[in-house]
Amino acid sequence: MERWRYHNPVDIRFGAGALGVLPSLTRGRRVTLVTFPEAKALGVIDRVRTILKADLVRVIDHTTPNPDVVELDMMYCDFWHDAASGEVLLAVGGGSVIDTAKALMVATADGSFAALVDLLAAAKPFSPARVRPLIAVPTTAGTGSEVTPWATIWDRGASRKYSLHLDSGLDALSHALESIWNVNANPVSDTHAVAAAREVLATLPALMRDRSSLALRTRMSQAALQAGLAFSNTKTALAHSISYDMTLHHGLPHGIACSFTLPLVLERALGVDPGRDAVLSRIFDGDLAGAPARLTNFLEGLGVSTRFETYGVSDTRRDQMIAAALDGVRGKNFIGARSAATA
Ligand SMILES: [Fe+2]
Repeated sequence: MERWRYHNPVDIRFGAGALGVLPSLTRGRRVTLVTFPEAKALGVIDRVRTILKADLVRVIDHTTPNPDVVELDMMYCDFWHDAASGEVLLAVGGGSVIDTAKALMVATADGSFAALVDLLAAAKPFSPARVRPLIAVPTTAGTGSEVTPWATIWDRGASRKYSLHLDSGLDALSHALESIWNVNANPVSDTHAVAAAREVLATLPALMRDRSSLALRTRMSQAALQAGLAFSNTKTALAHSISYDMTLHHGLPHGIACSFTLPLVLERALGVDPGRDAVLSRIFDGDLAGAPARLTNFLEGLGVSTRFETYGVSDTRRDQMIAAALDGVRGKNFIGARSAATA
């Protein structure tokens, strides 16, 4: 048997009302809250203030979807140069908010964000001069960012607002599947991934019809968490590699960008490795031949087209995009990458 390793040091508190444990975690330390612009109007900031009282010393709510290096630069300098920022970071929001807080939590030697970007660009090992502990409270069921050690930061000219509400749930499905058709998969990541994928497939259509159901939202939250635990150890693969191009150049929200290709990637994954087939088969009740069509019907049923042309991508451009994605860092995690390269 091959050797493998699984490591995830995040202390998880799950369930309705879990926010109430905050004071026992912050223990009187001063807290900066990182959240989304609508949080005040939604009563989120007041709710946190009621729980933390005077310990909440600062609120950063000018975060944006898919945080950009230019936007993060000023926020980072403000945070690290102001002694009033406190000792603990609390992120309440979706993946972009949690990723923003992750970027803030590590200080470079000179306190400049440019130094951090340089280190990331050079893929150099980074020993932060200072670190703020982070408590992440996800308000979407999808990204799993609360249990992964990385953040996605964008370097580009423009960002845009998104309107689809269930797309983060599809991100969770993508994380689960991508951790299975992955060269880094192991039995523990597989167990989390199968449970997560089955739960998303069962829950999301029902949630689409009844978005207020606390029971369904709880199930989706747990599925997203488990998908996070799966890919926190494997990283993602081909569908995410394609997604970056679709988000950057075609404006697709992450949850759609990383899930509309899942049937296509599944087709490429099947038959590559009997062990991987066996794990995928646990999701699709043993019917692997029908699995791509089932996935297509699931996505189309949620209103997500699985065809590139719907998003303005020609067949030629699609083929180029897939070839480039297979060559990308995440694409190389895909079990079919090697056979595709030699085909
Ligand atoms: Fe993702």
